[in-house]
Amino acid sequence: MSTLVIDRIGSLITNDPSLGEGPLGLISDASIVIEHGFVVAVGRAGAIADERIDAEGACVLPGFVDSHTHLVFAGDRAAEFSARMAGQPYDGGGIVVTTEATRSASTDKLDRLTMQRVAEARRHGTTTLEIKSGYGLDVANEVRALDIAGHYTTETTFLGAHLVPTEYAGRSDDYIDLVCGAMLAATAGSARWIDAFCETGAFDADQCRAVLDAGRAAGLGLRLHGNQLGYGPGVQLAVECGCASVDHCTYLSDADIAALAASDTVATFLPAADFSTRQPYPDARRAIDAGVTVAIASNCNPGSSYTTSIPFCIALAVRDMNMTIDEAVQAATVGGARALRRDDVGRLSPGSVGHAIVLDAPSHHHLAYRPGVQLVRTVVGPAS
Ligand code: NIG
Repeated sequence: MSTLVIDRIGSLITNDPSLGEGPLGLISDASIVIEHGFVVAVGRAGAIADERIDAEGACVLPGFVDSHTHLVFAGDRAAEFSARMAGQPYDGGGIVVTTEATRSASTDKLDRLTMQRVAEARRHGTTTLEIKSGYGLDVANEVRALDIAGHYTTETTFLGAHLVPTEYAGRSDDYIDLVCGAMLAATAGSARWIDAFCETGAFDADQCRAVLDAGRAAGLGLRLHGNQLGYGPGVQLAVECGCASVDHCTYLSDADIAALAASDTVATFLPAADFSTRQPYPDARRAIDAGVTVAIASNCNPGSSYTTSIPFCIALAVRDMNMTIDEAVQAATVGGARALRRDDVGRLSPGSVGHAIVLDAPSHHHLAYRPGVQLVRTVVGPAS
């Protein structure tokens, strides 16, 4: 294919304020031309190209950038979810259940399951996604998870420090030595990022710092799970280590917000996890007003957030986290790109990657206004 035009766009979100109105860079009655996968022109409707998609007055926006997923796993934890809805608290302990199911699955099956989830995410408008390991928790199975993740994205994350596996019960420091030693050595070549779960019941700040330091020394970018189930050291540690993103941020103290605002670490909110674990929702308004760069992501995994739908996350962020619709859409596009330290995705301006979605709606407001409705009509560009 040479050139493609998406024409007769009623409302185009470019995320480039120099191209249109407001921070979203909105243009009405627009067209966009894509050549060899990159945006080459953005302007008024009526552009000519070899192929044409007629948006018929609908809204077009950059494909969603989902910067936090755990898509490589087998089994589900519907019984755990059901018990939680009946009052059981979430503590992350079910990770070992998924680890057992994942280790037992054949590589073909695990790959097929991952492919199906990536395709599902794409149907909901996700064109770039990050995928973590973290349900292998031994050298061979972490390597296998990252190999599979690499079939679908370049944004692969080594999460050996997800939870202490049962064979290391009571010996978490020994397990951290394995993660920072043989496991990292075996996985670093197939990961772009390293991550750790900094939480009571998972790993403490010193253990996570050791993982991040080892990852940095191996050439990986840094990210961290922090402040999911309570206040804790995760956010401060992420800022101290220069993580690209600290994810969850459900519990943020004033000091956490101040540290984030003074850093280039993105606060990535995962509202579907707060929904599925009955956690309180974080107040994104507080963070945004303080100058924190924010993203929202799906956190698709079988325990705390079994959804690939970014539109669902946008609706939650608007309804329950005090984000405006514009802010939530930005957080799921250019915000996700920032969390991955990318400036080629999450926007539609000349030179950026031509990943776009055509909605079955006249404006992006419908993403929150019509929750649970499939509004993604056409997706241009792959999931990663
Ligand atoms: O980001 N919090 C740690 N990891 C996942 C949940 C994993 C699970 O429960 O299986 C998360 O929420």
